Amino acid sequence: MFNKKLVTDVDVKGKRALVRVDFNVPIKNGKVADDTRIVAALPTIKYLLDHGASVILFSHLGRPKEGPDPQFSMRPTAEHLAGLLGKPVAFAEEAVGPIAEAASKALKPGDVLVLENTRFYKGETKNDMELARQWAAMADLFVNDAFGSAHRAHASTEGVAHFLPAVAGFLMEKEIIYLGQAIADPRRPFIAILGGAKISDKIGVIRNLLAKADLVLIGGGMANTFFKAQGYPVGDSLVEDEVLDTARQLLAEGGTRLRLPVDVVIADRFEAEAEAKELEMGPIPSGWRILDIGPEAIAAYAKVLHGAGTVVWNGPMGVFEFPRFARGTFGVARAVAESSATSIVGGGDSVAAINQSGLQERITHISTGGGASLEMLEGLTLPGVASLLDK
Ligand code: 3PG
Repeated sequence: MFNKKLVTDVDVKGKRALVRVDFNVPIKNGKVADDTRIVAALPTIKYLLDHGASVILFSHLGRPKEGPDPQFSMRPTAEHLAGLLGKPVAFAEEAVGPIAEAASKALKPGDVLVLENTRFYKGETKNDMELARQWAAMADLFVNDAFGSAHRAHASTEGVAHFLPAVAGFLMEKEIIYLGQAIADPRRPFIAILGGAKISDKIGVIRNLLAKADLVLIGGGMANTFFKAQGYPVGDSLVEDEVLDTARQLLAEGGTRLRLPVDVVIADRFEAEAEAKELEMGPIPSGWRILDIGPEAIAAYAKVLHGAGTVVWNGPMGVFEFPRFARGTFGVARAVAESSATSIVGGGDSVAAINQSGLQERITHISTGGGASLEMLEGLTLPGVASLLDK
């Protein structure tokens, strides 16, 4: 299933390991606001330290536009990691150049260094080979544990693998096994739940899942475009007119495997305090917009999820940041957690809904990837994985 060399397949003793992590985490007031991705990388970091390697961690954070920008500094992640490891973590104020080189040379076995944001360099997102070579020159070994960034062919994820022995970390392995297995050999019935605002972001995913899953349950804003494609007036709901033809094709391809909500919650405006009405799916009055799936839809989805063998969920069912329109998302979160299926949840919003409901322990695998998990569900090969050494 996972045919790439792992960190356990190579000798790491006395080596400098350059480890690409996905520490693209929310920062508030100079502190890490959610450390899920940092905690998820700990097994690989600890393994390397316990086996006599020194560790150079590097990652992007946010999408800085032009060069260094203090609000996107990796420094808070280094400080946070020091707390988690209970030992000092050095920080280099650049990711390449004399400061980074000196800091990496100073490392002794068991030491940890965090480099500054990889995206402070133009060459990163262009997969510039010269930049990749500079990173590689600091180390003996490249470990990629950044599943969340594995769909990006960037210098720190793909490029650097051309210049060093390149292996996967434990998080990378775990993510690929769970998501890969769901697509390649799921316990059936295999049910996918897809939500979020737009179809256009997920056309490839919907298509691949319609081919592989027994049912695809739709919610969120993307349902509106399907409703319009079926001929319903959808009032003032968010709709992507430019993909109506695609939506029609998907409805035809999916047949009874593609399920839309049987009822919806509509609002007289896009606001937390908007008036809300439940409505069996039919023409939506003008001036009103769909903001959630309705109680009948939640019950129908929960019923099929109950008997599922594998469940994959990506994307909220409604505007769940407004409590009046959050029942669909939290109802589906509960149904996924209560199902005895192998459950896999990916994407920031669905993961947030699971966490807010305190249901994390009841999910088989919560992915640290947003775009990366979607590309796996689309059946694509991730460049950050393809570039690693085969077993
Ligand atoms: C993510 O948060 O999905 C990854 O860290 C990738 O970030 P990006 O979309 O800015 O490349």
